[in-house]
Amino acid sequence: MSGLRPLSPANGGRADTPLPRFLDNSGLPIDPPVREAREGGGAVEEEMPTLLHRVKHDGSILSLCVSDELIYAGSQSGEIMVWSLETFQLVRSVQAHQGSVLCLYLADHQSVLFSSAGDAIINVWDAKTFENLYSIYSTFDVGDVFCVVYSSALQTTYFGAQNTSIQWYDLKAKDLRPRPTLTSHPSHRNHRFFDSKGPGGRTTPRPASKVVPPSSRLLEVDPENIVQYAHYGYVYCMLLITLPSGWEIGGDGGEMLLSGGGDGVVKLWTINPATSAITSAMSLSAGDSGVLSMAINDTMLYCGLTDGEICIWDLDTRQLIRSLRTHCEDVLTMAVMGNCIFSGSASGYSRKWNQRFEHMSRWQSHSGLILASAATKRHGRLIYITGGNDNCVAIWDASALAQAESQTLRSQNDQLLCSLSKLVSFRTVSSDPSYAEDCRRGATYLKQLFKRYGATATLLPSEGGRNPIVHARFGGCGTKGRNKGKTILFYGHYDVIPASESAGAGWQTRPFELTGMNGYLYGRGVSDNKGPCLAALFAAGELVQEQELDADIMFLIEGEEESGSRGFVDAVRRNKELIGDVDWILLANSYWLDDDVPCLTYGLRGVIHATVVVESDKPDLHSGVEGSRLNREPTIDLVNLLAKLTSSDGKVLIPGFSEPVRPVTPAEEEMYTAITNAIVNKPDWSHLTAAQIKDHLMSKWRFPSLTIHKVSVSGPSNATIIPRAASASISLRIVPDQELSVIKDQLVSYLRSEYSSFNSNNKLNITIDHEAEPWLGDPENDAFRTLEEAVMDVWSEGNEERVRPLYIREGGSIPTARFLEKEFGAPAAHLPCGQASDQAHLDDERLRLVNLYKSKAILKRVFKELPRK
Ligand code: BES
Ligand code: MN
Repeated sequence: MSGLRPLSPANGGRADTPLPRFLDNSGLPIDPPVREAREGGGAVEEEMPTLLHRVKHDGSILSLCVSDELIYAGSQSGEIMVWSLETFQLVRSVQAHQGSVLCLYLADHQSVLFSSAGDAIINVWDAKTFENLYSIYSTFDVGDVFCVVYSSALQTTYFGAQNTSIQWYDLKAKDLRPRPTLTSHPSHRNHRFFDSKGPGGRTTPRPASKVVPPSSRLLEVDPENIVQYAHYGYVYCMLLITLPSGWEIGGDGGEMLLSGGGDGVVKLWTINPATSAITSAMSLSAGDSGVLSMAINDTMLYCGLTDGEICIWDLDTRQLIRSLRTHCEDVLTMAVMGNCIFSGSASGYSRKWNQRFEHMSRWQSHSGLILASAATKRHGRLIYITGGNDNCVAIWDASALAQAESQTLRSQNDQLLCSLSKLVSFRTVSSDPSYAEDCRRGATYLKQLFKRYGATATLLPSEGGRNPIVHARFGGCGTKGRNKGKTILFYGHYDVIPASESAGAGWQTRPFELTGMNGYLYGRGVSDNKGPCLAALFAAGELVQEQELDADIMFLIEGEEESGSRGFVDAVRRNKELIGDVDWILLANSYWLDDDVPCLTYGLRGVIHATVVVESDKPDLHSGVEGSRLNREPTIDLVNLLAKLTSSDGKVLIPGFSEPVRPVTPAEEEMYTAITNAIVNKPDWSHLTAAQIKDHLMSKWRFPSLTIHKVSVSGPSNATIIPRAASASISLRIVPDQELSVIKDQLVSYLRSEYSSFNSNNKLNITIDHEAEPWLGDPENDAFRTLEEAVMDVWSEGNEERVRPLYIREGGSIPTARFLEKEFGAPAAHLPCGQASDQAHLDDERLRLVNLYKSKAILKRVFKELPRK
């Protein structure tokens, strides 16, 4: 029977299949498109669910259940993992069984979790603390326990096993039962009658340790509470249903147990409310196929069978309504939520059906078997969750299209996520003019988003074909009177660094399609700087809705930051009237020092980007024909010139370059010591001593540096050519009190004077491409104080200890930071939203969902409270 395959622990076998790349279905069995859809009366439009997130484990996912806040998943190696439905962070992982966790069942208002497994045990857990309440087992060898349910009314758990039995345990009566003997515990039995082998005879190696819980938690099934041969096959699945009134079988309002077996039969069992005992009341036969999965909606029972079939019975009339062969392999999972039914098969395909069992959509959800599923409603969305032997849990938004597009029902975080996904889809690359139209569209989308959430918004044109600046203002209602007229300016940028879109190299996901994986959002610009900009937009928007905004929050979101903020100074000066006065400036465009400790950034280095070109008046030449010592080559001149910039150990040799660098004060020294102490024992830093860490941070943050980014040559660049011209891109990071204009002059005149001593007839050309002044904020001012309070509150939620942010500086540059301070006479503060591992400017740029949501919460607090200071 092929139905054996996926459910036996031997076959939850780890698939070495990588995470599906863009859900590519190549090389996999493909579920045929549905034929029945057309029969059922009128074509139903295909509505593809959207993948909200995917979390990866290191083994197959065999069971799933979902509460209002959490996803519980059971693994092949006996763990139960718990993920947050909001942030997709792993909140817990426990070694729950010595065998595959085959079924999970939440009961008692989601406070208790039942797990059944290949170790012949049913464990009962506190669903929040994961305290093991009971461990239930049978003295018989039952083999794998495929299914478990619990009746809260009767306080009785029922389970179905591989030895064809159904057994139950009445927790009300547990204290009346004799205490079990330890030797009867399944882990003490040496020879298991059942040790299910999959095709090929592989068995799953069981963990060696035999951990038996203390006997006070052990509960042994009364031999009277067993129905042997409940099926003529394995008992694969169970449902506990509340009977509608007026049913002939069972009592009104009572419960009934349904079981599905490898014998192709669904049995309906009445339950004696006094004893919890079950009696077979009726059998429904599905023919030769095993019943692998069941779901019920009202009186309609949907059964997933072996070989791709789905049977539907109306329990009211006990009639078989339909039998469809839609999937091409075993239908291992069925789930119901509202009016939707989901089926998932061993081919990796899921299907969504409506109540009339018309087909709505079909999509590949896993690159292996779908072994488990669950469904729930959350913030107006229909959430479908699948687990498979590709080691993934996938979370889908399966809402109907019309509903999916309406933002009104969504939670605020869902709306933020949805908007970010849209914003990331615009290829707003500022360095390449061919993306100018994408940039304009991105800017227009942002402008509309500001308006939708209650701001006034316009695009400020930049001169010379530069990307526009989005200017927006959320008007404070000034209820606190004294705050009226105050303004916080949030500065950010919507432009991004280019990202390679060719498959196979570089990115794991598509860079301009926001993709959720393991608690992170992947996409170009998600951290630098689209995510933080939207966190700020939603923070202000929500405060307006809550009528909690006193002051004005103004936004300048530019589209040229990655290109040195070309045109920004001009545009701001031209629009001075519109922009008006500013009291504080906030930025959110950098990263924490590591991945764990929240930080505040009080300094950025400045930068000078220059291009140095040496060219001759001759064309590209053949080196064999023309190469000679008397023929001065531009590339050799350039390399010799670049060599004058630094000593062989990397010290910058421009005369006077380092003189203005501010000396380290004792107070500053202390700040660095504090940071060093906070991180010295962390794994990322453990290879360095405290003194080395301090040195390392100081040289990145408060000392200047020089980089040669690129050296390139003219012509076909093959190894027989003397290039006509050679060029280098270089940059200098500068720090207080180096003066931008002085350093620029020093650089140019030093290169010129060194070059003149070469006596070459090739021409030297130096251009300054862009420049930024360094910025040093005051970590003692009100803006930083307010930020610190907010960071501590938001990141300490749920912790006993309050997390104080680290005050850090950054080696990177934001050209406008110092300019805005000077132009508006207002101090700036900087909230880093991302983690050190965000990969800004690199492949696989990402932002952790928790960081996005918490950054919004922090900015909300600051927008509200800073003006009240
Ligand atoms: N977000 C960065 C600035 C940054 C970089 C902060 C590294 C912290 C660490 C910003 O978007 C950026 O990339 N700036 C450029 C500016 C340049 C193009 C003038 C930079 O630092 O190279
Ligand atoms: Mn950047």
